[in-house]
Amino acid sequence: MLLVVSGTGKLGGRVVRLLLARGADVRCLVRAGSDGARLEELGAKVVRGDLTDPRSLVEACQGVETVIATATVINRRLAGLPSPSIRDADELGMASLVHAAESAGVERFVYMSFPGVESALGTPLENAKLATEKRLERSSLRRVVVRADAFHEIHLAPPARFDLAAGKVSVIGKGDSKQRWISTDDVAALVAALAVEPDPPAVVTVGGPEALSKNEVIAIAEELTHRKLKVQRMPRGVARLAIRMLNKRKDGLASAFGAGLLQDLRAADWDDEPLRQRGIMPRSTTDYLREQARRLP
Ligand SMILES: NC(=O)c1ccc[n+]([C@@H]2O[C@H](COP(=O)([O-])OP(=O)(O)OC[C@H]3O[C@@H](n4cnc5c(N)ncnc54)[C@H](OP(=O)(O)O)[C@@H]3O)[C@@H](O)[C@H]2O)c1
Repeated sequence: MLLVVSGTGKLGGRVVRLLLARGADVRCLVRAGSDGARLEELGAKVVRGDLTDPRSLVEACQGVETVIATATVINRRLAGLPSPSIRDADELGMASLVHAAESAGVERFVYMSFPGVESALGTPLENAKLATEKRLERSSLRRVVVRADAFHEIHLAPPARFDLAAGKVSVIGKGDSKQRWISTDDVAALVAALAVEPDPPAVVTVGGPEALSKNEVIAIAEELTHRKLKVQRMPRGVARLAIRMLNKRKDGLASAFGAGLLQDLRAADWDDEPLRQRGIMPRSTTDYLREQARRLP
C-alpha cells in the first residue's frame, strides 16, 4: 500500500494516476472539506486527515509500505488562507508525518524538495523543506528526496508573474542564471517510478532537458508569440528586503520571492538524467512555451 499525502494537488494527483495505472494500491490522505471523489473514482482509497492533525497521520500510515509526501500549503497561503502557516503544515506537519510513518513501520518515504534548499535565504518554505530533509536523514525510513527544479506550469505561468496573455513577466535579479525548468508531468513520472523501484537513491536532483536563463526564456517566448513582453525587474537587494519584511506576515509571498531569488542566485548543475534513466522522455521548455503561445487568443 502506498500513501499519497496530497492526491488533490497538481503533482500528487498526477502521481496517483500513474501509480493506479501500474496497478498499485493507493491510499490518499485528503483534508476535511477537500473533494476526494475524483480520487475514489480513479480507484484510490481516500482517508481523511491533515498534516496539522498528528493522530490522523498515525491512522493513515497503518499498513503502508511507502509514503509519498508532495503536500504544501504555500498555494493556499498565497490565495490568502489565514491558517495553517507554512511552518505549521510544511515543517511541523511533515515532522509529524515522518514520525507517524516511523511508528507504523513504513519502509520508504518519498519527499518533494528543491535544489538549493540549503541556500539560507531563510524563507518559511526553505526552512520547512530543509528541516524535513534533515528529519528524514535522521529517521529509520528509507528516504527518497526529490529535489526538482522550477515547474513550467508554476514558474512560467501567471501565478509566478509570467503572463503571456497579458504580455507581462517579472524577473528577480539579472535573469542570467540558467535553470532546468521542468514539466510537472515529468516530475510526477519520476516520483511514481522512485516510489516503486527496488533500490532508489536517497537524493535525486533533477531538471528538464534545456538549460535556459529567465532572459533566454523571455526571448524564446517573444519569438514564439511575435510579441514584445513588458519585463518588470526586481533587484536582488529589493527581493531580499521583501523576504525579510514578509517572512512573518505573508509566508507564502516571502517564499515565492525566495524561489525567484534562488533562480537568480544559482545556476543549475543538475540535468534530466534521472528522467532519461527511467525511460521518461522529458518535455522541453521551448515545447511548453510553444504550446502556451498557441493557446493565446
Ligand atoms: N512549483 C515548483 O516549481 C516546485 C519545485 C520543486 C518542488 N516543488 C514541490 O512540489 C510539491 C507539489 O506541489 P503542487 O504544485 O502539487 O502543490 P499543490 O497543487 O498546491 O498541492 C498541494 C497539496 O497539498 C495538500 N495540502 C495542503 N495543506 C495540507 C494539509 N494541512 N494537510 C494535508 N494536505 C495538505 C493540498 O490539499 P488540498 O487540495 O486539500 O488543499 C494539495 O493536495 C510541493 O511539495 C512543492 O513544494 C515544487
